[in-house]
Amino acid sequence: MALDVKQLGETFFAEVTGVDLTRKLDDDTYREINGLLLQYGVLLFPDQRLTDEAQEVFSEWYGELEVTFNDDEKFTAHLSNVDEDGTIRDPNSRQSSFLRANQQWHSDSTIFQAPARISFLSGREVPPVSGETEWADLQAAWEALPEDRKQELDGLIVEHDFQNSRIKAGHKFDEEQRKRWPPLPHPLVRTHEETGKKALYVGSQATHVVGWPRDKGEALIEELLAFATQPRFVHTHTWRQYDFLMWDNRRVNHRGRPWDEAKYPRVLHRTTVKGTGPTMEGDKPVDEYAREQQVHALAFLSRDQRAA
Ligand SMILES: [Fe+2]
Repeated sequence: MALDVKQLGETFFAEVTGVDLTRKLDDDTYREINGLLLQYGVLLFPDQRLTDEAQEVFSEWYGELEVTFNDDEKFTAHLSNVDEDGTIRDPNSRQSSFLRANQQWHSDSTIFQAPARISFLSGREVPPVSGETEWADLQAAWEALPEDRKQELDGLIVEHDFQNSRIKAGHKFDEEQRKRWPPLPHPLVRTHEETGKKALYVGSQATHVVGWPRDKGEALIEELLAFATQPRFVHTHTWRQYDFLMWDNRRVNHRGRPWDEAKYPRVLHRTTVKGTGPTMEGDKPVDEYAREQQVHALAFLSRDQRAA
């Protein structure tokens, strides 16, 4: 099948046409699309009128699917401000604030030791204005850092807490949520298992650097996230109905943008392919990582103090 590919972002993000994803494809086409995903990080397929079933068939070719938060027998999450009876949900409800946290930069499913590899999002109903989705190229951001900075950062471990982004959106976890999604360590710099390329791995769920004084780690995370989401690394996508996007969570961050939630429906259906393995070797408690990180931290922070 002849796919037409047009790069839309400065360093990543391509639009792909010439393929009908509502039909089962041949293996060569699925593979070709995977090659494009590795090359561009985010792919946009316009005008794909997918049902949930067709979206799952397409997604599943790339790996085992994650179940949704609400129902562990379902694989398609409905990210929507419309309730089942068709009315627009109260923007002040708990469900609304939970979803609104997705308006902060993140990579999907850092709540798992093996976080999501690929996410797929289908625009079933989109607002006429605003409500865009943005992606940031964390691989290009990493490559733009000076060599000595890269050496300092590579090897650091960051704790990710799903609740962190929720609190910022006004949603405090209840006890059951706290138990279900405990904080987890992930490397600050990830190496992509298929391309071998490195990328920063930092988003709104990252809270602090393991083994570092809390304030120093928070400041570093804030600095790197601001660096990686500068306009030169970001592409903004304005939704049209039936747009279908897939992205590589090992390389990019994303966030939704606000819209008039009380007025316009915004209904996006997501499927997600599981990660192939944990980002960290072994299964050690965070404290143990913290002890190992002390040495690295001391070297790093003493350099900082010398500079101050
Ligand atoms: Fe997301």
